[in-house]
Amino acid sequence: MTEKPWSGRFTAQTDAFVEAFTASVSFDQRLYAYDIKGSIAHARMLAHVSVLTDAECNKIVEGLNKIEAEIERGEFNWSVALEDVHMSIETQLTQKIGAVGKKLHTGRSRNDQIATDIRLYLRDEIDGIQADLTRLIKALAELAERQAETLMPGFTHLQSAQPITFGHHLLAWCEMLLRDKGRLQDCRQRLNSLPLGAAALAGTSYPIDRPYTAQLLGFDTIAENSLDAVSDRDFVIEFTAAAALLMMHLSRFSEELILWSSAQFQFIELSDAFCTGSSIMPQKKNPDVPELVRGKTGRVYGHLMSLLTLMKSQPLAYNKDNQEDKEPLFDTIDTLKGCLRVYADMIPTMQVQSEQMYSAAQRGFTTATDLADYLVRKGVAFRDAHEIVGKAVRHCIETGKDLHELQIDEFKAFSPLIDEKVYELLTLEGSVKARDHLGGTAPNQVRAAVRRLQERL
Ligand code: ARG
Repeated sequence: MTEKPWSGRFTAQTDAFVEAFTASVSFDQRLYAYDIKGSIAHARMLAHVSVLTDAECNKIVEGLNKIEAEIERGEFNWSVALEDVHMSIETQLTQKIGAVGKKLHTGRSRNDQIATDIRLYLRDEIDGIQADLTRLIKALAELAERQAETLMPGFTHLQSAQPITFGHHLLAWCEMLLRDKGRLQDCRQRLNSLPLGAAALAGTSYPIDRPYTAQLLGFDTIAENSLDAVSDRDFVIEFTAAAALLMMHLSRFSEELILWSSAQFQFIELSDAFCTGSSIMPQKKNPDVPELVRGKTGRVYGHLMSLLTLMKSQPLAYNKDNQEDKEPLFDTIDTLKGCLRVYADMIPTMQVQSEQMYSAAQRGFTTATDLADYLVRKGVAFRDAHEIVGKAVRHCIETGKDLHELQIDEFKAFSPLIDEKVYELLTLEGSVKARDHLGGTAPNQVRAAVRRLQERL
């Protein structure tokens, strides 16, 4: 039996099942590099305020560095008996460098230690996720630039509404992702506050120098209240909420890609590298990647709910419940990173079927609003223009024609104000070109928006 670092007041051994039940080492070992980084900063701070001698501090730092290398080489022996990443590393340190290793935990508790570890870890993960997001946004913006003139139907209620450019549609996705970047940045800024020094809950009687530790670890601020510092997991919830929103966005993109790659739409073709076949239907090419991303959104929502519930009603300060924050957080990060990566890889390989998009935009009277606007410019009130065009559309439905296929006399029957110029504006090209203002779908505007977006990145 391994002796526990806290065994002093105990007379009996921990029940074997309870040992496994309470242990977190199987999953929190993921935090090892941050645990070691935090411990090194803590040791240096203790030396700085003369609680440790420089020689003691150097020995500790050297030992911790060796342990880190061992872990990286896969030579470290993780054991459930040592409960968590903190006690595993500390115990190994003492075995390596002798009694001085036992001084590392002076003025510290696992409570402020874990609160520090998760923050350091999540800070790095957010930076990585931001880079992945930037890569995806860039891929979408490049495609948008190339598709600035490609015409497609824009939808409301999934019914053809008005012609838009495909580039404009892609830039709508970019806007969602840019808001996600902002939320993650906001979360990172708020989490970058040092909990270390709070010790178990009440602070410590040693003359610690928290600004010094904060500086070593790159924290912008220092947690003001020791009780809050050890118990706060708002940042984990904030991150997961931002991740849930991001996944919601990816699920919306996925839904469109799935629809667009169907035989009914044929707007795009996903590369074979991102699809799979059916074991029974030889003709099938399934959009598995977007489908899985859409499906994985559910687990991230679930993690958000489990974290909110985990923190609900917890009394101050640290409670063991908090150990349950890690698996939902880790799975959220893994899921999100996987989805962003596969999306950023898939988007540039996607084939755009612009002829299909064009012919779909020609169906469904998508330029009817343009005809109404034309009448308004000729002095008709918009409501009356709406009525006139509505009747023309009904006539088209009855005669199986599209608006641009009506003869000028047929048009004039609905309004004598309509003249030959109407045909120009009933084209898809004319319709999108007319929406030439900031935020509009005109090809010019799409190109300008791509340029602004590149600056915003
Ligand atoms: N494994 C614990 C966690 O994840 C570390 C802190 C344990 N503290 C304690 N007093 N048992 O929250």
